[in-house]
Amino acid sequence: MPIINRVADLADEITAWRRDFHENPELGYDVHRTAGIVAEKLRSFGCDEVATGIGRTGVVGVIKGKTDSSGKVIGLRADMDALPILEATDLPYRSKVPGKMHACGHDGHTAMLLGAAKYLAETRNFDGTAVVIFQPAEEGGGGGDAMIRDGLMERFGIQEVYGMHNWPGVPVGHFAMRAGPTMAAADRFTITIEGKGGHAAYPHKCIDPIVTAAHVITALQSVASRSIDPLDSVVVSVCTIKAGDTFNVIPQTAMLLGTVRTLSPAARDAAEARIRAIVENTCATFGATASIEYKRGYPVTVNDAGKTEFVASVAKAVAGEGAVQTNFPPEMGAEDFSYMLEKRPGAYVFLGNGETAGVHHPAYDFNDAATPYGVSLWAKIIESGMPAR
Ligand code: NI
Repeated sequence: MPIINRVADLADEITAWRRDFHENPELGYDVHRTAGIVAEKLRSFGCDEVATGIGRTGVVGVIKGKTDSSGKVIGLRADMDALPILEATDLPYRSKVPGKMHACGHDGHTAMLLGAAKYLAETRNFDGTAVVIFQPAEEGGGGGDAMIRDGLMERFGIQEVYGMHNWPGVPVGHFAMRAGPTMAAADRFTITIEGKGGHAAYPHKCIDPIVTAAHVITALQSVASRSIDPLDSVVVSVCTIKAGDTFNVIPQTAMLLGTVRTLSPAARDAAEARIRAIVENTCATFGATASIEYKRGYPVTVNDAGKTEFVASVAKAVAGEGAVQTNFPPEMGAEDFSYMLEKRPGAYVFLGNGETAGVHHPAYDFNDAATPYGVSLWAKIIESGMPAR
């Protein structure tokens, strides 16, 4: 039971959809064109229900199997949004919108889930209900969470849910996954250090926020090295420093912006507590004051062990025993499918994208050769998870 024949037949059509999305990237919740095409196609496939405007611009299609004695409802989710990146490729279907680009392959994800919907609506060879979920604003906007707040899970009776992301570096025709924490929680901080500005020749009459900031940055390195269990994982990165305008003035303030990534709730809480204490006390040492705005973002993406085992078995059936890694290392990137996995058991799996540029790189392009594998996995999750009677 490798790639489904009918799916292979659909590959060219799906690729054409994908390249159209690629040429017309949209950001965040402003995915009106993409969502419009998705809804129109789902209707043309004969979905039993097509709902729009869920989580602002999210779209949901419902496909009922030939029978429904199982009473099961499985959700499959794709993301539709692009990134604010100027594309650096010469592809014939490169972005027509300067500064916007499908650099994370969400064009491929949307097209693949549409392909699966077309196949499932055509064949309906399952006993239960398939729900295809197209979310906006995965790239930082929390579109998945917005759909949940709009009642996604309850309204469609979703009992389990699956997500898939292309992964450069994993060969085409392969899948990779793991049970448990798979993607990190992503939190952000803005630290404002208030000193006392003045003439640079008279530092003793000032409180230098730059020297203070340097000590804060150095001390923050101890969160990962000294405060969190080395067998747990944490990243604390200061990514922006803003202070001063010239060479002979000690400024009044300094700002530090950064990100914190963790794979467990314990590490997440501990990292925040340590960062707050380090900032407050280091600043006090130098006579400066600090304010810290600490914003929690996407939670940890946690795969259910049983559902991961199930997807692995389906992936092996599609790609072959040797083409499925089931102990793929967790990633410190974040993913807002995490919100869906907080609500329902399921799994988030990586689809091999081959040796392309990395995601979020201006030369990245989703590898269309992966499409038949991704679409077959979607279809088989439904057909194996709710076998026809
Ligand atoms: Ni992505």
